[in-house]
Amino acid sequence: MMKRGSVGVFDSGFGGIAILKEIEKCLPSYRYIYLGDTARTPYGTRSMEVVHQFTLEGIDFLFRQGCELVIVACNTASADALRKIQRKYLPNNYPDRRVLGVVVPLVEEALAVTQNGRVGVLATEGTVRSNKYPRELEKLSGGACVFQQAAPLLVPLVEEGEHHTKAAELILRKYLAPLRAKRIDTLLLACTHYGHLESQVKKEMGKKVNVVPAGKVVARKLKEYLLRHPEIESRLSHSKSVTFYTTDLTEKFRRVGAKLYGHPITPKKAVLGG
Ligand code: DGL
Repeated sequence: MMKRGSVGVFDSGFGGIAILKEIEKCLPSYRYIYLGDTARTPYGTRSMEVVHQFTLEGIDFLFRQGCELVIVACNTASADALRKIQRKYLPNNYPDRRVLGVVVPLVEEALAVTQNGRVGVLATEGTVRSNKYPRELEKLSGGACVFQQAAPLLVPLVEEGEHHTKAAELILRKYLAPLRAKRIDTLLLACTHYGHLESQVKKEMGKKVNVVPAGKVVARKLKEYLLRHPEIESRLSHSKSVTFYTTDLTEKFRRVGAKLYGHPITPKKAVLGG
């Protein structure tokens, strides 16, 4: 059998590039397809119905490009839409393919590293509203204290490539202050975009707080998943390549995407839905 399948990485925009980079480092031989729905980002301020529809269209596009497995890197999409897609859309349309999210891997890691059981979650408004992280943390630990903080201004800063500026530092400090006051010892950056601010977050929170490295955790969990699921792994191509798709093919995607990815990229236009 020819091994043709790719691994898809889906995000609302540029954020998931931080996750893709870590996945590639950990599993370099596969063929990856990245889709950033930049035409419709941000997802974090939208209703669950709209996020569900956009996520469905993104996943469907990646399957049509030959992905056997799609990682929904976007936390906002993973928080609510993913479960419905796994339960309804997948069995009805692509019963042999898989869609994986990021919430459970990150929650498991937070619980593995916390000492005092006080976990902070920095996320989009949509993810905070969904209460998905507190629910999963509660389900898996039964006793963790979870403190959520929405950080809506960080996504546009990353999308504009402005996340290493003084302004970004001040905004980040404002968002992190309430979490610092709660004496958390573990912090989840529960939005792909915040991964690009990881070093600033660590500096701000100090050495006593574990900032969970989302990209590394997702990559490690994916590696474990593929070891447990040879029926999926055996369908993946080992052609070692990455193709970038965006729903808004602009010079900015090339420029900011290359800056975040660390290499030049040649994105292609994705048309979703229809
Ligand atoms: N990247 C998405 C996440 O991980 C959200 C950013 C957005 O609001 O589009 O939650």
